[in-house]
Amino acid sequence: MSVWGRIFAGIYDRVMAKTELAGLGAHRESLLAEASGDVLEIGAGTGTNLLYYGSAVRTLTFTEPEKPMVRRLQRRILERRPDAKLLRAPAEDLPFEDDSFDTVVATLVLCTVDDQPRALRELRRVLRPGGRLLFRRTGTRTGSRSWRTAGRRTRGSCPRGTSSTPPPGASG
Ligand SMILES: C[S@@+](CC[C@H](N)C(=O)[O-])C[C@H]1O[C@@H](n2cnc3c(N)ncnc32)[C@H](O)[C@@H]1O
Repeated sequence: MSVWGRIFAGIYDRVMAKTELAGLGAHRESLLAEASGDVLEIGAGTGTNLLYYGSAVRTLTFTEPEKPMVRRLQRRILERRPDAKLLRAPAEDLPFEDDSFDTVVATLVLCTVDDQPRALRELRRVLRPGGRLLFRRTGTRTGSRSWRTAGRRTRGSCPRGTSSTPPPGASG
């Protein structure tokens, strides 16, 4: 992990604060109201989405590949959802059996992964038949430029307007 990766994790919540207030937080809330059953969130970052999971969620599992993010996420999980599991893993190589989850959540993640087709295959593999992918792609409005830049510096390309093609049957 680069020095910039550590800095990115350290400033992420502050950089995002304005964007969350400007509407991203509300979008997370309505998106995650759809999460139910056994839920996997990939690339969970500092755990912002922990605020929004509701009672329809039976189990909650997080993955995140970057150590500085994992440390922050671990603290948030202990504060807000101590029963949740956390594993360090990239979306391209998920350490789960086939058909393990009812819902997979990917917010602001898919454009940062190195191998997007492989990651999408993994998401499909771990989703149960009829399961749902809830995703939010890279934003394009107020306050988003700084974290797009940060994402580029951390994990390669994350161009404006990148959209992520969900696997067949996915929604969100
Ligand atoms: C812009 S942040 C979004 C964090 C969080 N999902 C959110 O909604 O605030 C992108 C996250 O994707 C993670 N990431 C980067 N490459 C990844 C990969 N190959 N698989 C899974 N997550 C990855 C980064 O470490 C970072 O935590």
